[in-house]
Amino acid sequence: MSLLPILRFPDPRLKKVAAPVARIDDGIRRLARDMAETMYEAPGIGLAATQVDVHLRLIVVDASETKDQLLVLINPAIEVQEGSQKCEEGCLSVPGIYDRVERAEHVVVRYLDLDGSEQTVDASGLLAVCLQHEMDHLQGRVFVEHLSQLKQLRIRNKLAKQARITA
Ligand code: NI
Repeated sequence: MSLLPILRFPDPRLKKVAAPVARIDDGIRRLARDMAETMYEAPGIGLAATQVDVHLRLIVVDASETKDQLLVLINPAIEVQEGSQKCEEGCLSVPGIYDRVERAEHVVVRYLDLDGSEQTVDASGLLAVCLQHEMDHLQGRVFVEHLSQLKQLRIRNKLAKQARITA
């Protein structure tokens, strides 16, 4: 296993739209393992392949407190979305930035697992937020793009300043 480098907003590669996984092979299984390791190490509760510069529809999430409820979702699709909630979000691609985003309260997501079997996950609360956030990445969308233009400008300036300091 290995840790994967995570793209940082506003890297243009975060805007790429991911393609469906055509075949679940050893490469996909290795990618899922490495992504899970990278997510736990960060630490984070979700990671999309887009964030590690692989533009395939694959996400890993674990919103449990015990960090033992890993879900690997291949070709995820939202079947049901209901209600709304506003939750403070962060993102491993936007370090140090947290803000409230409106999302559906309840979602049902259909996906393939690593064996290629069709599964569904019925989620509300934090897990529902996490699934919507990660699926946004697969569409080339980062959570800050849900915020006002002014907030986005402030975030870009803050991140540019951070990059200069650490460079
Ligand atoms: Ni994210």
